[in-house]
Amino acid sequence: MICKFVVGIFKEPASYKQSGRNKMEQVVHDDEKMKFWMSLVDRIFWNTKPTKVYDKSDDGLYHWFPDGVLNTSYLALDFHVEAGKGEETAIIYDSPVTKTKSKLSYRKLLESVEKMAFTLDSLGVKKGDTVVIYMPMIPEALVSMLACARIGAVHSVVFGGFAPHELAVRLDDCRPKIVITASYGVEISKIIPYKPLLDEAMHLSSHKPDYVILKSRPNLEVIMHTGRDFDWDELMETAGKKKAVNVSSGDPLYILYTSGTTGKPKGVVRDNGGHAIAMHYSMEVIYDMKPGEVFFAASDVGWVVGHSYIVYAPLIYGCTTVLYEGKPVRTPDAGAFYRIIEEYKVKTLFCAPTAFRAIRKEDPDGKELSKYNISSLKYLFLAGERTDPVTYDWACELLKVPVVDHWWQTETGWAIAANMMGASPLPTKAGSATKPVTGFDVRILDEEGHELNHGEKGNIVIKLPLPPGCLPTLWNDHTNFESSYLSHYPGYYLTGDGGYFDEDGYLFILGRIDDVINVAGHRLSTGEMEEIVAENSSIAESAVIGIADEIKGQVPLAIVVCKDGISIDQKSIEFDITHRIREKIGAIASLKAVVFVKRLPKTRSGKILRKTMRKMIDGETYSVPSTIDDPSILDEVMDVVRIKFPRTSN
Ligand code: COA
Ligand code: AMP
Repeated sequence: MICKFVVGIFKEPASYKQSGRNKMEQVVHDDEKMKFWMSLVDRIFWNTKPTKVYDKSDDGLYHWFPDGVLNTSYLALDFHVEAGKGEETAIIYDSPVTKTKSKLSYRKLLESVEKMAFTLDSLGVKKGDTVVIYMPMIPEALVSMLACARIGAVHSVVFGGFAPHELAVRLDDCRPKIVITASYGVEISKIIPYKPLLDEAMHLSSHKPDYVILKSRPNLEVIMHTGRDFDWDELMETAGKKKAVNVSSGDPLYILYTSGTTGKPKGVVRDNGGHAIAMHYSMEVIYDMKPGEVFFAASDVGWVVGHSYIVYAPLIYGCTTVLYEGKPVRTPDAGAFYRIIEEYKVKTLFCAPTAFRAIRKEDPDGKELSKYNISSLKYLFLAGERTDPVTYDWACELLKVPVVDHWWQTETGWAIAANMMGASPLPTKAGSATKPVTGFDVRILDEEGHELNHGEKGNIVIKLPLPPGCLPTLWNDHTNFESSYLSHYPGYYLTGDGGYFDEDGYLFILGRIDDVINVAGHRLSTGEMEEIVAENSSIAESAVIGIADEIKGQVPLAIVVCKDGISIDQKSIEFDITHRIREKIGAIASLKAVVFVKRLPKTRSGKILRKTMRKMIDGETYSVPSTIDDPSILDEVMDVVRIKFPRTSN
């Protein structure tokens, strides 16, 4: 059991401002870096304060603060309540799609979390067990996450937009004892009934969770399986209170699956101690927040942005977080974000660039903005995909606040490169994520592992060790962790992105070097889509590539070759492929089109020229590799593609 926290023993940290990027830039030796991170441990409350900063143990895992003991739910809730801040608002829930608004104080949120933690414990969930959370953007999703953290259970939130097949893959990989869900989510003009999707996933998966807890929402009957399915409200009515248990710093807090290059998603593991330090630190040095201020991350709890900046960082840091169940547009209009900013006095807005592209399309002159007072807003942070300079300039001009493009990944859990607004703000450059954040030693390497000079483009890597908060491994798959991220360049973590530093040391991200694409800020695998395309029995081979889209940044396009002698018409094949991708991955995959060609362009070793085709279709400058097998095939394919996409380069 956690020791009772005594107000007064814990020293309020001094400002991080003195420990930002500038100080770290001078730190060259690893032992000094370690001292730097050790100097931050007092920023959060530990049940047992760590004496060691970092350990690469015999199991090959990277452990931050290995002998520290703490509880993340305690840090996010009890800590603030015990410090007399129980009546401050923890969550503002704003749901235009259900016309609901409510506020939850830290005390009320703690009460709910204590009860759900008690419930999970009563249903047999113990420290180290896994729980899958498949929920829309409702307060109960956050309560579930924090309740797991409270009892040391490992949650895995699955984005509601994923289809049953994707959910089943995750159920089989992390083998949860319990799944927590809700009867439905609400999209712009329709409801998405989650429970039948979960039932279908549990039918498809080999692993069958013991129980389902369902948060019922109004006006939809749900079929419950007696003995397996329990009603959230009924359980909460009779639940007692569960105190936070002690967990080791390196114990897993959550697993978050993310797309890799194949159909099998990677289970990114997050620890407790390193994560808590990173979350706390980033709120001040990157986002320039102060406890009590309002942070609005317009993402979804199913993504890493939701984990870090809707839930953990704002609550650990004592801010108010906005939980928004709606879209940037059409719920009801392009002024939705401005309304939230005015109504709740949001200081920092964080969203994907696609949201502002959608707002700009519907309201290019900012007429909606003129209806609201957004003077509380100090920053707009963008991440999840490339910010195009047009959107960047438009947002700067319109909002008249710094627009900060920052770069990170599910794996790192927080920004690798950013303009650190709370520590050492720098002049911004459109198209750049500014400079590496404290603790991320970013380098650009060529294929052979030579470090490149400023201005030269290559693979972006991070010198090990990664700072606190980053993944120590993949769930149940340390071998895949090493082969995916560490073995390419020994001593470095391979980010999967390409880019370069300019002459001033600003980092520019050029895009993925693998088969991962970003559709409206949602990370998806084209390799997985190719596997699904191949399930159509008419298809001999295919290449799925991410092509530029005005709103979503990228959308997938399938270029397919049919088997000889196939008499099925192309429209039926296209319908089948589109349907399969939607059925297996989810509607978010948004397959743009299927293009039928006779052959695919390849190198002499048989590698399909995906990158060259993508650049040509997007009308970018491209180079054809000297190893191309038959250049006429590329011309042939582009002639077909050009009919659908006239922007294709000649
Ligand atoms: N649950 C179920 N279905 C979902 C879903 C969810 N949580 N989110 C999206 N979908 C469905 C949509 O209903 C839609 O289905 P449809 O094809 O049947 O209409 C499909 O997936 C595509 O949705 P979306 O990608 O949201 O496109 P859109 O055209 O409806 O909206 C934007 C466009 C730009 C407004 C929207 O993509 C957006 O808000 N993007 C921001 C994304 C974001 O915050 N990402 C987080 C990264 S930080
Ligand atoms: P995810 O793991 O879903 O957060 O996606 C991470 C990927 O999104 C990165 O590897 C990048 O390819 C892309 N990404 C995230 N932020 C940015 C950014 N600011 N600029 C360009 N690409 C980005």
